[in-house]
Amino acid sequence: MQQVEHQPVMLEQVLSILQPRSRGQYLDLTVGLGGHAESILERSSPRGRLLGIDRDAAALDYARRRLRRFGERARLVQGRFSELEEHLRAAGMDRVDGLLADLGVSSLQLQDASRGFSLQLDGPLDMRMDQRQGRSLEQLLRGIDGEELARLLGEYGDVRQPRRVSRRILEELAAGRLRGTLDLARVGAEGRAGRLHPATRVFQALRMLVNQELEELRALLQALPEPLRPGGRAVIISFHSAEDRLVKNRFADLAGRCRCPPHLPECRCGARARVRLLNRRARRPSPAEVAANPRARSARLRALERLAA
Ligand SMILES: C[S@@+](CC[C@H](N)C(=O)[O-])C[C@H]1O[C@@H](n2cnc3c(N)ncnc32)[C@H](O)[C@@H]1O
Repeated sequence: MQQVEHQPVMLEQVLSILQPRSRGQYLDLTVGLGGHAESILERSSPRGRLLGIDRDAAALDYARRRLRRFGERARLVQGRFSELEEHLRAAGMDRVDGLLADLGVSSLQLQDASRGFSLQLDGPLDMRMDQRQGRSLEQLLRGIDGEELARLLGEYGDVRQPRRVSRRILEELAAGRLRGTLDLARVGAEGRAGRLHPATRVFQALRMLVNQELEELRALLQALPEPLRPGGRAVIISFHSAEDRLVKNRFADLAGRCRCPPHLPECRCGARARVRLLNRRARRPSPAEVAANPRARSARLRALERLAA
């Protein structure tokens, strides 16, 4: 099996929240390289079951080999958050005890130059997590308007001077000088310096755009808490402030936050708590974890528990 350097982010916190147990049913929506899934299956031995979903076929191949030893206890399917309900139904698992979404990109995707996610290895302008569908980055850039691209760079990547970056990307593309990811890294880095590779935010924003990552996350959040049994728990790890904001707001609504205007004397929006938040603030990885695994540095973990009806 090809070895990929990957340490599951905030693993101990995830396990201490999900408390996997034998006969429990778990859903890993971002099975990736199977790191979190493997530990959940080990801890829920001998009878816990896990449905692992990922939109990336290469990740699933890797996870399938890694999790083979768990036999029927691990079922893996290719799919997206927005298809969650149908995959649960097909697996005969309409309600689960624990659900995990560890958002973003995997080491496998970053380390395979041909996927176009890397700003250090030259590859095509693709960035699709699911290569069966959707438009590649190049196709998307060829059809996008400069203003729209600037808006998305700002929203998805907190890219500074998004208009300038958008203009330069589209100029270079039109001139035939944006042939691969290293060209994109060069354009994204123009005039920038810092601790991160200067084009990191540009890559993150474009990846989120190609894969409609915020739309997918909204679909997942909207589906909650239905896939959980009463007492079941959901953990979401995000790596981007826009993602974390969506998670925080939806979790607050599910926990019964009233959305009435402040001048109303009583609540009329019908807010009621369907979940209990397991942490008021997002949990962060320890400094030791960040030192050992720099990918963890921007992780924010939020978790909830479904209340009885
Ligand atoms: C950070 S990795 C997960 C790593 C995994 N937890 C592990 O320990 O190996 C994120 C994975 O989520 C997948 N992914 C991202 N958005 C998705 C979506 N909307 N639906 C399904 N999978 C998604 C990516 O393809 C990637 O493999």
